[in-house]
This record gives sequence, C-alpha cells and structure tokens, in this order.
Amino acid sequence: HRHLLGIEPLAPTDISAILDRAETYVDLSRSDSKHSDLLAGMTQINMFFENSTRTQASFELAGKRLGADVMNMAMQASSIKKGETLIDTALTLNAMQPDLLVVRHPNSGAVDLLAQKVHCAVLNAGDGRHEHPTQALLDALTIRRAKGRLHRLSIAICGDIAHSRVARSNILALTKMENRVRLIGPPTLLPAGIGEFGVEVFHDMHEGLEDVDVVMMLRLQRERMDGGFIPSEREYYHRYGLDADKLSRAKSDAIVMHPGPMNRGVEIDGTLADDINRSVIQDQVEMGVAVRMAAMDLLAHNLRERRAA
Ligand code: CP
Repeated sequence: HRHLLGIEPLAPTDISAILDRAETYVDLSRSDSKHSDLLAGMTQINMFFENSTRTQASFELAGKRLGADVMNMAMQASSIKKGETLIDTALTLNAMQPDLLVVRHPNSGAVDLLAQKVHCAVLNAGDGRHEHPTQALLDALTIRRAKGRLHRLSIAICGDIAHSRVARSNILALTKMENRVRLIGPPTLLPAGIGEFGVEVFHDMHEGLEDVDVVMMLRLQRERMDGGFIPSEREYYHRYGLDADKLSRAKSDAIVMHPGPMNRGVEIDGTLADDINRSVIQDQVEMGVAVRMAAMDLLAHNLRERRAA
C-alpha cells in the first residue's frame, strides 16, 4: 500500500503484518534507548485541522523514535486562516519534499482527496465520521495482547456509533478478523443501514453486554450533533453509561476500552475506567505509539522501493 487512508482497503494479512511489526516497537519503546534510525533522513509533517491529544502526540513520538525529522504544523496559525484551500496547502507542503504526511481533518474524505495530490505517503489521523485507521489498529493490538488472539471474540462497541470514525474503523477491522461485533446504543445514535456491516444491534446495555469478551465505550460527540438528538448527560449515563452493574453482564474477564478523550460520569464510570484489573485504556495509549511506528515503517519501506524502481 502507498498510503494508510482507512481500514477498508486492508486485507486481514495486512492488519496482522502491522500488528506483528508493532510488537517489536512495543519492546523498543520500553527499552532504554527507545530509538531506531529507520526513518533517518525522512521528513514527517503532521497536519491536524482538529484538536487531538493522543493521536498527535503519539505520531510525533513515533516519528522521533524512528529518527525522522518531524514537523508539527500549527494549523490554527497557518495560511488556511487567510483563505488558502486544503489542496493548495497540501501542494505547498508537497513542494518541500516531505516523505510522510499525517493528516486529521473534520471533513470525511478530505484526507483521501489530499493523498491524490501529493507524492509522499499519507496517513489518515481521523477524517470526519469516516475512518481513524490507526485507532482501530491500536485497539486491535490491545485486544490481541489482552486476550491472546484477535479472532472469534465477542466485542461490544457502545454509545454514539453514528458520529464515530473510531467505531467505523473498528467495525471494519474486527469483522475482517472474524470477530462477532455488537453495537449498543440508542436508535438515534446508530447510523441507518448499519446491519449491512455484519454486526448485531442492541438498544439495551444489559442485553447487549451479555457474555462479551471486550467492551469498547465511545464518547458522545456533541460537536458532530448538528441540531439532532442530544441526550441529557444524566439520562444517558443511566441508560448507556458503563458501570460495574452493567459490566457484570459481560464475561468475568472482559476488558474495558475507551479511545479517549473520555467523559467520566457520561459514558463511563470514572472508578471503572481507572480499575487496572478491567480497564486497558492506558494500554491503548501505549499501543498507539507502537502501531504508528509500525505503520510509518511499512509505508516508508514501500516509498523507498517505489523511489528505487
Ligand atoms: N483517540 C483519539 O483519537 O484521541 P485524540 O482525539 O486525543 O487524538
């Protein structure tokens, strides 16, 4: 592959190859040196048109641990504010000969469009409601490490599915790897036609969580709710917030996940989120660096081969 724009074009063997490579970067990141020179001489530009803590920090650390020259564009201070378009901005940066562009954008499809205009490898760091592929890959690695496998698991994705690129990429990745995926949420927060994705749909947490291996909670994405249904936080927590009582329906060794940022007391009980016997939320963050190192390693390898050809 030339770019990493989504999970959709990936084969199960591609997913396994990225996760296997990421395992080596978990070890490297835990070592004293933390460093490789695999991307020495390469330039990585991070363009985040939307807020981020985890994704931006981990892409920056990933690039630096691989020895790349990493530049974070301050998009709020860029000439986008003077009316320059996304494509003109991309062409301008392309002329500076970057090797890797990491892009987050509020519009679905914007990163695909940009990738068609530049010569380097593009990594989608989240585009609108469309995809967030490295999130799904870091979630897959976290599950594989916690459960010892990434197939034939029962996985519940809960909450605001309709507005979530994390849910979309996870549904694609987890079904490709032959897991049973259940979506749990109020009808207003489940997208139309979701049945076509090969998932089961539930509107009741107690029912949907019965005997699952993995519980993945999502944030209510109010910034994407344009005038439609916005539940009160109290009511939402009562019906859909994960607490010990609802979790007791899942398998006794079920793990609890959340991509972050998390709203404690809205979609998840704060004590449960901090319970290291159940919650793997901090592991997800750690796996994020390793998976992004692996994705950039593999794309840089392909880029070098194309240039040498
Ligand atoms: N999970 C995730 O994408 O978090 P950020 O928005 O903080 O990057």
